[in-house]
Amino acid sequence: MAIFLTGSTGYLGSYLATGLFREHRDSLNLLVRAKNQQEARERLWQSLQLHMEFAEFQEHFSSRVRIFIGDLTNLQFGLPDDEYQALMQSTDSLIHCAASLNRKSEKQCLNVNLRGTLEVIQLARRAQDHHGLRRFSHVSTVAVAGTRQDETVLEDNAIDWARSDYDPYARTKKFCEHMVHQLLPEVPRTIFRPAIVMGDSRRPETTQFDMVQAFSVLASLPVLPLRPTGRIDIVPADYVGKAIVHIHQKAVARYPRYHLSSGAGSQTYRELTDALAQAGGSRPTYLPSLGGTFSGTVNWLSHKKNNLGRGASLLKVFWPYLVWNTVFDNSRVVEELGGEMPAKFSTYASPLLKFSRENRFRYPAKPWPSENASVKSAGGGAGA
Ligand SMILES: NC(=O)c1ccc[n+]([C@@H]2O[C@H](COP(=O)([O-])OP(=O)(O)OC[C@H]3O[C@@H](n4cnc5c(N)ncnc54)[C@H](OP(=O)(O)O)[C@@H]3O)[C@@H](O)[C@H]2O)c1
Repeated sequence: MAIFLTGSTGYLGSYLATGLFREHRDSLNLLVRAKNQQEARERLWQSLQLHMEFAEFQEHFSSRVRIFIGDLTNLQFGLPDDEYQALMQSTDSLIHCAASLNRKSEKQCLNVNLRGTLEVIQLARRAQDHHGLRRFSHVSTVAVAGTRQDETVLEDNAIDWARSDYDPYARTKKFCEHMVHQLLPEVPRTIFRPAIVMGDSRRPETTQFDMVQAFSVLASLPVLPLRPTGRIDIVPADYVGKAIVHIHQKAVARYPRYHLSSGAGSQTYRELTDALAQAGGSRPTYLPSLGGTFSGTVNWLSHKKNNLGRGASLLKVFWPYLVWNTVFDNSRVVEELGGEMPAKFSTYASPLLKFSRENRFRYPAKPWPSENASVKSAGGGAGA
């Protein structure tokens, strides 16, 4: 039997696959968008090389992985009947991590998050009826808490249907949680809600740059239209990955939902800019009253076709989450991880920014090694 994991070609999904490979022995059923098996393996290598060398990648993929080439937005993922049956019959738990994070596109969020999650739930339903499921883990987001200001949110108080949401991403992710609860009532379910996931506390490299690029623009401004005492809940990807893998694999999770966040340990903008200044940056002036002028400037910059323009347009999208001064209590996950807290962003922000800027906000990915061309033509590795 195997764990069905969606989103393994993405940023967080690569942490989940790696954690499962290294800490556990289960096989993995991976849903990957690709034209064929080789393209799927190459796409997985692009995301997993952040964590491992090619030899380790090959070892896992030849013994423990079955790739299902499919798309969340197609009926039964677009798999032929026999493959869909094989997937359903061999899956004994699921981690649904894939999503569209495109906050600007209602269509993308609706299709990938709502239709896609419904499709994953249907698979879980069939597996539950066929042989029973050990667990359904759903990767959600703290954005389901909707519009907030100056709050500390507890897991069980986050969803409030009367509240507005900042964007279609938040709204669709909120409804995904609802579907999981309504449609899989007898399956052990765990909801994980990461806060702003940025970087890895153990090394500068990352493969996801959207938030880093927005943060880089902020860090380069001499004047910040923010309250210096405003807090921002940032959590490193290594902590989020470790928590999801650990809790998913437990016989019994202590709670039905977890914030994967920095909670009360979240830092203020002043703490972050002081840390960046110590690492060679300059100290900005805080002028929260500048809000209107600032949004005009960001708007103007966002039309520029360069890294600054892209950073500014990302800043515009993320802005509500930067000024809400809202943090998400993390005592449940800290308890599950035996008291381990996430590393503070100030301890690894500077190398993360340096790596990202030096690489122009793109991961310098290594291609599929050419000496493995024989594997390529033979279509080696497990998987249908
Ligand atoms: N990153 C954050 O700051 C953050 C914060 C809170 C919560 N989260 C949650 O964490 C999860 C993972 O986020 P991430 O940052 O890792 O995102 P990501 O890097 O954009 O990865 C998204 C993954 O979803 C897959 N996917 C998207 N559309 C698909 C489709 N139609 N069919 C099959 N797969 C599809 C992508 O596959 P392709 O490679 O084929 O595109 C990719 O593997 C999401 O559920 C997100 O809501 C993230």
